[in-house]
Amino acid sequence: MTGKILKESTDYLIGKGFETPEIGIVLGTGLGKLADEIENPIEAHYNHIPYFPLATVEFHSGKLIYGTLEGKKVVVMQGRFHFYEGYDLLDVTYPIRVMQMLGIKKLFISNAAGAINPNFKKGDLMLIEDHINLQGGSPLAFKNVSQFGDRFTDMSEPYDIPMRKCLEKIAKKKNITLQKGVYASVVGPQLETKAEYRMLKIIGADAVGMSTVPEVIVANHLKLPVVAVSVLTDECDPDNLKPVNISEIIEIAGRTEPKMIQLFRELIKEI
Ligand code: HPA
Repeated sequence: MTGKILKESTDYLIGKGFETPEIGIVLGTGLGKLADEIENPIEAHYNHIPYFPLATVEFHSGKLIYGTLEGKKVVVMQGRFHFYEGYDLLDVTYPIRVMQMLGIKKLFISNAAGAINPNFKKGDLMLIEDHINLQGGSPLAFKNVSQFGDRFTDMSEPYDIPMRKCLEKIAKKKNITLQKGVYASVVGPQLETKAEYRMLKIIGADAVGMSTVPEVIVANHLKLPVVAVSVLTDECDPDNLKPVNISEIIEIAGRTEPKMIQLFRELIKEI
């Protein structure tokens, strides 16, 4: 990775009118609708941005959208890159570096995840308090990483506490159930076996998914305050496990999405 390449991606977006966004937002699988609420939107398809990885998965429309939400300038990723699609972790996290270069000061991340904690139900939201990286690699494992931030990035508190507190307050006010817990990130794309779900519970995970952790590591590398919310789409009970139904996962994500949108919109207002 080089600063020159990053600057070319950023300059392309500035040329399209992506002027100093304050907040970056990553929308997860089945969670793209917040993008439709952006006022005065300017769109850039991933495939048109120099040096961006090429978008693949069919339920991701794959674009960056710039505009205004709650009176603040935002840049939203509608669709993200996953390790399981064959990208390396530098590609997966490249857009985070570009959004930071555009000027964002805060990052919000969403994802769809399976509920490991038996007290959590599908359709609940979970505020991520901490994570376990089970992707077998790091987006910071490259030669010139120290040109962009600390190689040995601190991860003692990866999720911004003031924004977490603010989200909890908003959820309470809006009567939205917001669980709190640890998110484990696996490679996928296969779902977990019963034995793997048991292991995830034992090691302290409350939810499991296939994204977010690489992006959060890079946000920490860039000292960019980040919060992340999981939409729990399925209950991963190893003693009562049914075959996975991806269309149901996407449907539950879509049904739960309005609550997530409410949380993010209020958070934009408050920060
Ligand atoms: N496992 C991994 N990723 C997921 C799951 C799951 O059960 N549900 C939604 N994303």
